[in-house]
Formats: sequence, C-alpha cells, structure tokens
Amino acid sequence: MASRYHEVYEGWKRDPDGFWAEAAGEIDWIKPWDKVFDETLGDYGQWFAGAECNTCYNCLDRHVERGRPGQPAIIYDSPITGAKAVYSYEETLERVNAMAAVLSDQGVAKGDRVIIYMPMIPEAVMAMLACARLGAVHSVVFGGFAANELATRIDDAKPTAIIAASCGIEPGRVVTYKPLLDEAIDMSVHKPSNCFVLQREQSKAVLTDGRDHDLGVLMDEALAEGRTVSCVPVKATDPLYILYTSGTTGQPKGVVRDNGGHMVALKWSMTNIYGIEPGEVFWAASDVGWVVGHSYIVYAPLLQGATTIVFEGKPVGTPDAGVFWRVISEHNVASLFTAPTAFRAIKKEDPRGELIGDYDLAGFRSLFLAGERADPDTLQWAEDQLGVPVIDHWWQTETGWTIVGNPLGLGLLPIKHGSPTVPMPGYDVQVLDDAGHPVPAGTLGNVVVKLPLPPGCLPTLWQAPERFHKAYLDEFPGYYKTADAGVMDEDGYLFIMARTDDIINVAGHRLSTGAMEEVLASHPDVAECAVIGVVDTLKGQAPCGFAVLKAGVNRPHEEIEAELVKLVRQKIGPVAAFKLAITVERLPKTRSGKILRATMRQIADGTDVRVPATIDDPAILVEIEEALKARGLAV
Ligand code: COA
Ligand code: AMP
Repeated sequence: MASRYHEVYEGWKRDPDGFWAEAAGEIDWIKPWDKVFDETLGDYGQWFAGAECNTCYNCLDRHVERGRPGQPAIIYDSPITGAKAVYSYEETLERVNAMAAVLSDQGVAKGDRVIIYMPMIPEAVMAMLACARLGAVHSVVFGGFAANELATRIDDAKPTAIIAASCGIEPGRVVTYKPLLDEAIDMSVHKPSNCFVLQREQSKAVLTDGRDHDLGVLMDEALAEGRTVSCVPVKATDPLYILYTSGTTGQPKGVVRDNGGHMVALKWSMTNIYGIEPGEVFWAASDVGWVVGHSYIVYAPLLQGATTIVFEGKPVGTPDAGVFWRVISEHNVASLFTAPTAFRAIKKEDPRGELIGDYDLAGFRSLFLAGERADPDTLQWAEDQLGVPVIDHWWQTETGWTIVGNPLGLGLLPIKHGSPTVPMPGYDVQVLDDAGHPVPAGTLGNVVVKLPLPPGCLPTLWQAPERFHKAYLDEFPGYYKTADAGVMDEDGYLFIMARTDDIINVAGHRLSTGAMEEVLASHPDVAECAVIGVVDTLKGQAPCGFAVLKAGVNRPHEEIEAELVKLVRQKIGPVAAFKLAITVERLPKTRSGKILRATMRQIADGTDVRVPATIDDPAILVEIEEALKARGLAV
C-alpha cells in the first residue's frame, strides 16, 4: 500500500486547526471547545480551549456503554510472580469506580495531586484512571527511584494522597516500597494526609495509624457495595498528570500533560502511527513510571478500545529470553513497543533467536522501538528474527507521543536504519545551528520544533513557567528545543545523534549526570567530580563518575569509590545503574575552568578525541585515559 503520509502531513500543514478538530471528533466531549488552538493562553497557547471532558470516561465508560463491556481491557501477566489475570472493560470500570470511591471518601477531589508509587500491577493503571475520573492530577513515580527522589517529587507536587503497593519484585529480591515511602515522607516538608497501600503477599507493609489505609480491603468493600463515582468534568486544558523527568540538575522537571489535547493526539496515534484497531491487543513493554507507560500502556490503548498488557517481568531471566514471544503468542499481541535495550538483552541470551520458534507469532504484525537510539545491528537482528516491520520512532517525555516516526497506520515509508524516519503531523521539525539558523541537509545541528507544539505535548512545567521557558523556549525563539542533536537528510529523514545537555540514556531510562554529580559532591571526601555516560553494549550508555578527593584524605581510594557507588544508589536509586566511580588526581578543564566532559567521554569510548584549543593542561587527559584503561575502558 502506498503511504498516505505525505498527503496527510501536507493536509495538517495547510490547516492545523482543521486537522486537529477532525481528530478531536474521535473523543467524547462534555462541552465542545471555543477555539481549537488559543495562542493567548498559557506559555505558548493551549489546545481545545473552553472544552470540557473526562479522560477516564473516554478510556472506559464509553467502551462499556458502546459494545465492549466483555472485551479485555487489561491483561496482567507477571512471570516474576507467576500471576496472570484478565480484566474486561466492565470489570476495569468497576474497579476504577471502587478506587475512585475510596479516594473520594478520604477527600481526594478535582485538582488535588496524588502520587502513585507502584510496580507493574493492574492496580497501578486503575489508580491512574481513578484519579482521572475524579479530576485529580496523578504523578507516578518509578519504583526504581530511592526515597530521596520520591521526597523531591512530594515536595514539588504537594500531593494530598499517595497510592502505593507494599512491594515490587525484581529478579532475586523483593523491593519493599513502604520503608522507602515512610523515609520519603519523613524527609519531605509537605506531608500528604493519606496513603493507600496495596498489600502484596510477597511482603506486607506495616501501616501507620491515622495516615495509612489498606487499599485492597477498602476496594473490596467498595466493590461489594457496587460503589460508583461520576466522571468529574474537567477543562480540556486542566492537567491530567505530572510526570517528573530528569533535567540538568538534581531537581527533576515536572512535565504537565493536559486532558483534551492528550486524548486527541494519543487516539490519533493509535490508528495512524501504530495501525491498531479497537479490539486488538497492544503491548508496551515498559513501566507505568515512564512516559511510554503513561501513553502506551495506559491511555492510548484504552482510548482506542484496544486491550493493553501489564507485564511484570524482564525481557530476559523471567524465566528466559523467550518470555516476550510467549506473551505475544499467548495473548495474541498485534504490536509490541519496547526499548532497543530489551532486544539487545534478548539477542545476547539467544543470539540465533532459537526460542522464537517455540511460539506461534502468526498474529504479530509490528515491533516499535523508542526511548533511546536504535542501533542498526539490533534493528537488523529483530527484522531477521521476526519477519515483521521493526519501526524506530523518536519522542520525549515532554511530547508524550511521536515527534518523528514511520506511520504504519498511514502506510509504511521505506525504512532507513539509524533514522526514526519523518516528522509526524503536528511537528514542524527543523535543524538549526547554535545561532538559530537552519543548517543544510546532511549537517548536524540542534533539533527543534516550530511552535506551537501539537496537542498532547507539555503546555508547561508544573508551577515552573520560568524554568519551562529557560529550558525549552528561550534559546531558539519561536521554537521548542528538544536538546537532541541530529541530522536531516535530503529525503527529510531525521537521524538523532546525541543529547546536547548532560542527560544520558541508560537502558532506555533517562538520567541526569548533573544529578549524579550533586550526589558525588555531597560526599565529605570529594573536592570535585564529573559524571559522564560511556558506551555500554547492553544498556546503550552507563554512567561513569570521576572524583578528585580533598587534600589530606588518606583512606584507601577503593573504599571511597565503593561509598560513592552506594551513595548514588541510596540517593537516586538502583535505576541510576551507577557502578563505576574512579578517583583521579585532577580533572581536565578549559582555561576558564570548565570540565571537559565531552573529551573524557570520547577517551572512554575510544572514539576520535577532540581536544579543545582552550584546554588548560593536556597532560591530564593522559591521566584520565590511564585511569579508564585500568577499568577496562578507553580501549
Ligand atoms: N523497582 C526497583 N528497582 C528497579 C526497578 C523497579 N521498578 N527497575 C529496575 N530496577 C533496578 C534493577 O533491579 C537494577 O538493580 P541492580 O543494580 O540491583 O541490578 C537497576 O535498577 C538497574 O535496572 P536496569 O537498568 O533496568 O537493568 P537490569 O539489569 O535490571 O535489566 C534490561 C536490564 C536491559 C533487561 C532492562 O533494562 C530492560 O528490560 N529494560 C527495558 C527498557 C525499558 O523498559 N525502558 C523504559 C523506556 S521504554
Ligand atoms: P525520555 O524523555 O525518557 O523518553 O527520553 C527522551 C530522549 O531519549 C530523547 O530526547 C532522545 O535523546 C532519546 N530517544 C528517545 N527515543 C529515541 C530514538 N528513537 N532515537 C534516538 N534517541 C531517542
């Protein structure tokens, strides 16, 4: 089939408001909009101004009312615990109603913030939908973060309530959430009034009197009583959620998502980008703590009336590298969305793809990859093994859906390995030099998006409009700065090469080296430090920290290095995957004192080393290289 992409993209360019108004016809509105896009509102304008809606209604109620009550909405498959369950749209709605009733009984209401700190269990999805039903603003915190990170988010979002599970399960260990939650609440200045804790059998939590509630018990009561809660009308421009993501400092950025534009964009993407019809099974093997989980485990599949999979496991080791194929075959998954790192892990364990042959994948149509650069080797391997289109697409927490992709629903464009393909309707993507001028095709530059951003993208940062402007809008006036560097070729295909800030991408997880440096610098023996991301064959990148010790510190350096590794795990969490701290005599700097992190990275990765003319003492680079070689890097 010839792709309709060019025609559709041009149609959007000719009449953006008309394009999005038509897409909005797929959503049930309580009150229609006054203006499709109102440029006078918010930080750069807002979508569907004046409209009222409810996201939970669009995800659940309307499917129950219109022919899908018995269709599975959520399939829970947990190879790590052995549990499996299926919840139809009707059952999911009953449970979301029950959870909304429980929250509402304790005063959670429209506009309140609710933090959700849960592993990959169906109740995490239900908690998000229950908040949406009440018009409360959820903020999901990934389970791999430490108490300190949770405390930072509590103080920024100021939640009235927290919904948590007693534990998560990682291979070989139970992660008890409740002690982390208690520690975070002790640390935070803001104190939530209520915590709802779902007790899991692997580790039951001790509940604190007066503040904690047993969520399972309360939900069972509410279910037995058949409690329902009406969907609360919210403005299309009201926040649905806040999702914190790494910025350049230890203070994460609270990305805000609205209700109306978000629904319109995600619904459009399911049909036109992913090519998924209502009733089909879509599996995003991510975590609800990340944006991929928000958009493509929870909201988009349910808005589409599709079935989503909540998978509590890993691509390898639970129990083996065939688990993805087992899930696809057992639940008739039409399309899988995951991060390239998952495929690198599978390829490492089962290089010849022998486990694939054990399963019937006849219904499987496509694999989508995002979250980090998809390396051509992994793409090729996945294509060879699976025999379906393997589609890279590029987006960010900030945008919530694809900026540049290959729209299967509109008809695939030719794939070029290394490129996520072309801009989606809504995004006018350009590549600019540092002075803000467009660069010729084939030239590396700053990837930006001409304002306004399309529906679904962040309208602002949570209670931080100045930071929003500074981070995204000020450097290239009239454009959104993606902080990715890239190249557009003659055919309009974009290639994403690297971040332009100090964000690194470890196993598809976005992490701030600045935040890690803040932790290293807090160690009493550290005078100064630098953290860089070095190439890792499995995780894409891995953090590597350098520390210069204060004069007079004469403890064994290995002891201090081990303390630094422990400190990052304690303060940021295991997800930082910080395993390498190296003590050095000095750090390479420019004459004005700027640490040469990029040069250190080039040395570590063994790529071309570009030494800036402004370097203060080139001899330090040799010292760094020797220190890296001693750890098996810089080869
Ligand atoms: N709760 C608590 N700890 C968690 C966690 C969670 N939800 N998720 C990860 N962690 C821990 C891991 O147990 C690990 O701890 P360890 O240092 O004690 O081993 C650490 O955080 C690092 O995790 P990760 O980087 O995910 O590595 P891994 O070794 O557990 O798994 C892969 C490696 C490649 C299999 C895994 O990263 C993977 O499947 N990634 C998929 C990518 C993905 O989902 N990305 C999301 C964006 S789409
Ligand atoms: P996150 O906000 O966690 O989704 O991370 C967004 C960042 O991940 C982007 O700014 C890119 O640096 C990187 N990224 C995501 N998807 C891709 C992709 N398909 N190709 C290259 N980089 C990607």
